[in-house]
Amino acid sequence: MADTKDIPSSGEGEIATFQLGGKSYDFPVVIGTEGEKGIDISSLRSRTGYITLDEGFANTGSCQSKITYIDGEKGRLCYRGIPIEVMAENSTFIETAYLIIYGDLPTRRQMSDFSQKVLRNANLHEAMLHFFEGAFPFTAHPMSILSSLLNSLGCYYPNMVTNDREKDLESFDDAAALLLSKVRTIAAMTYRMKNGLPLIYPKKDLGYSQNFLHMMFSEPYHEYYPHDDVTKALDLILLLHSDHEQNCSTSTVRMVASSGANLFASVSAGVCALWGPLHGGANMAVIKMLEEIYRDGDDGTRFIEAAKGGKTRLMGFGHRIYKSYDPRAKILSEAADKVFHVMRKKKDPLLEIAKRLEEKARSDPYFIERNLYPNVDFYSGTILKSIGLPTDMFTVLFAIGRMPGWIAHWREVATKPKSKIIRPRQIYQGEVNKPYIKVRNRDAGDLQDYESDVSKSEGYGAAENASFKA
Ligand SMILES: CC(C)(COP(=O)(O)OP(=O)(O)OC[C@H]1O[C@@H](n2cnc3c(N)ncnc32)[C@H](O)[C@@H]1OP(=O)(O)O)[C@@H](O)C(=O)NCCC(=O)NCCS
Repeated sequence: MADTKDIPSSGEGEIATFQLGGKSYDFPVVIGTEGEKGIDISSLRSRTGYITLDEGFANTGSCQSKITYIDGEKGRLCYRGIPIEVMAENSTFIETAYLIIYGDLPTRRQMSDFSQKVLRNANLHEAMLHFFEGAFPFTAHPMSILSSLLNSLGCYYPNMVTNDREKDLESFDDAAALLLSKVRTIAAMTYRMKNGLPLIYPKKDLGYSQNFLHMMFSEPYHEYYPHDDVTKALDLILLLHSDHEQNCSTSTVRMVASSGANLFASVSAGVCALWGPLHGGANMAVIKMLEEIYRDGDDGTRFIEAAKGGKTRLMGFGHRIYKSYDPRAKILSEAADKVFHVMRKKKDPLLEIAKRLEEKARSDPYFIERNLYPNVDFYSGTILKSIGLPTDMFTVLFAIGRMPGWIAHWREVATKPKSKIIRPRQIYQGEVNKPYIKVRNRDAGDLQDYESDVSKSEGYGAAENASFKA
């Protein structure tokens, strides 16, 4: 397995000099293996009394990592040094997960052991099935269920959730395989529960993505056999989402991990961060937008103009890092045509709309000037929809795909010698020296109206609130 040695912390003697308050300070420049450079300001505050302010962290390197490299200007993405296009062409989600988590492509033996371990963990503890029998309402969002159940999962494996870093690391290999496997089972069972369908168990002779489709769409009286190309398309989507360096959810996982929290708690927090429409939730938002365009019979102009006017965002467009075409979107846009063909949908109206919308936006000066291109979410939703997945499961699929990345980043934090808790600073902009005034001396405001409302109401608290003693 690949090393987890600490990463060298400085470059080759390059120095950045700051002038502050008439004094000059030197800071070392850290150079990455792909040549990107960062100024190491870790001694800035102790030497100068200043901190840096970078809301949204667009200019801040929060760590040094060996997992994923992105060149946003050139549209390059590599997992452990291997270009995403090569992985997409040759690999599977499970092999990619191994590469991301452990740092190297597995030997044939390692691949077989890892796949078996993932497979053996596909079932949920029987007690967990009660969660799908009325604990959550049918209306619950699958991301809410997923985050809760990933954290709950840890309760069933107390030897993996000790919150003693050394002990948690001893069971890391088991915990990683277990999470990779069970996240998929939880997702499928959530879908079945929400739709009032009987729970379907995983099968031992099916691959990772095929088993997911089986658990989603088989019936006790009818086995679902997906076309190979459909399984491949789903596997590709998962592979393309496997890691993306310090995005919002992964940074969340690293932050939670930095407190010493266990792997289960950390990935559960990652799911919550992923849920938002500016992150993983964008794939759902894209479909909603395309459906609205379809319903209106509009050519997308209304959405484009609203986005240009700052009223909304064109969902699935733009990226913090990519200032050129997101390589994952390129791969998916080509894969989409293949899936539609297999699903016997000669033309998918949403894909047509997506392609037209892309063309329109990319010839508009607003999007050109701001380097706004389609991102991975722009085409993934159309593929997932054509496979038959409901829109509210899209972000869950993103979470299944991102699991290897979250696990690998947790491990990187957990194995880093002298790992520090992540705790940024701030520039306080609130009031200063505000006096405390006792409640009886404060303005009455609309208290009289409130008291008469409260005295009219009955029950607990009314009398207490009406007297409102300090
Ligand atoms: C991904 C995203 C959050 C990145 O945001 P960011 O790096 O903070 O970029 P900013 O918000 O600073 O945007 C820079 C400029 O581009 C504009 N912009 C960015 N994304 C845009 C979009 N999707 N539609 C319209 N305008 C957009 C901003 O309004 C801003 O314009 P301004 O300079 O005139 O103020 C953003 O592009 C977005 O909200 N995209 C839509 C949601 C999405 O698809 N998310 C999935 C990401 S994988």
